[in-house]
Amino acid sequence: MALIFFILILSHLVGMSHAQLKVGFYGKTCPEAENIVTNVVRQVAASTQNIAPVLLRLHFHDCFVQGCDGSILLENGEIGERHAFGHQGVQGFDVIERAKEEIEKVCPGIVSCADIVALAARDAIVVANGPSYEVETGRRDGMISNLTLAANMPDVSESIQILKAKFSQKGLSEKDLVVLSAAHTIGTTACFFMTQRLYDFVPGGGSDPSIDPSFLPELMAACPRNGDVNARLSMDRGSGEEFDNNILQNVRSGFAVLRSDASLYEDVDTRNIVDSYFGIFSPFLGTSFEDDFANAMVKMGRIDVLTGKQGKIRSVCSTF
Ligand code: HEM
Ligand SMILES: *[C@@H]1O[C@H](CO)[C@@H](O)[C@H](O)[C@H]1NC(C)=O
Repeated sequence: MALIFFILILSHLVGMSHAQLKVGFYGKTCPEAENIVTNVVRQVAASTQNIAPVLLRLHFHDCFVQGCDGSILLENGEIGERHAFGHQGVQGFDVIERAKEEIEKVCPGIVSCADIVALAARDAIVVANGPSYEVETGRRDGMISNLTLAANMPDVSESIQILKAKFSQKGLSEKDLVVLSAAHTIGTTACFFMTQRLYDFVPGGGSDPSIDPSFLPELMAACPRNGDVNARLSMDRGSGEEFDNNILQNVRSGFAVLRSDASLYEDVDTRNIVDSYFGIFSPFLGTSFEDDFANAMVKMGRIDVLTGKQGKIRSVCSTF
């Protein structure tokens, strides 16, 4: 009996070792898949200015709730994960659905929605002139969509300790936290996320003292008190459409827009990581920001993935 049990466990482990993400997972089963995603992202980007940041953020939000399993794409009525408070402003579902439709025409039932999200994020970064990298594929789609599962999403107003802990829970290091937060090199935030920082800062009230005094009036003009909470402003002052490390320079000099980005410079460890990209010798030592970012994206894309026979391949990303 014990032996049979042992063999079962062993065969399960062997099975698991085969069921891993790998670059080119669809190389034989759907060789066109990656090109289709790339083309859809490029086509949409030609007419929709903010699509690159939208698709990058979508992958992050998918991965941080129950793993990179495409569950954020499911429309599951009022209780659907999509409607979680922590997913406020997340978009891009239609782009994923469009790529999925085109892929289904060529190879139905093969390519997961979760993989399309990961591929689209890579292609989006390239659209914004960021680094390209090989995306590991082979994720399967999750079958649970419940907004309470998203309650733990990192929040702008959380302390650096909590942010570190939340990334650590997903197997991501302090360096990953810094580098991935630098995704805010592209895209915009709604004023909704700025109100507290500008007018009701905790502690003390008023505005966040870490904001450079020359920057504060600019932020207040973009997001006036009692103004439109849906108005948007770039998160990387001066370079919000270009993927570069300017965001980290802004973080160093009091020009961070989001409170969570500013907090990266208030902790010794994360501060040293930010600074490491700006030393006199940093262009010659260690790895570049772009390489580190690409590596961190690959790592993020592995969070709690379903592989092998787990989950399933949905034929429409928004429904079970
Ligand atoms: C440290 C934890 C993080 C916090 C607290 C955070 C918070 C936010 C907030 C509040 C916004 C504005 C959303 C809106 O108004 O639509 C935003 C946007 C964005 N986030 Fe993050 N974020 C974090 C980490 C990340 C990571 C890890 C990535 C990707 C690797 C990412 C990518 C983006 C992008 C690209 C946007 C711009 C979206 C757009 O322009 O539509 N963020 N983030
Ligand atoms: C959603 O998840 C919560 C917490 O795990 C659980 O209490 C609740 O019953 C779930 N809702 C549905 C409809 O499955």
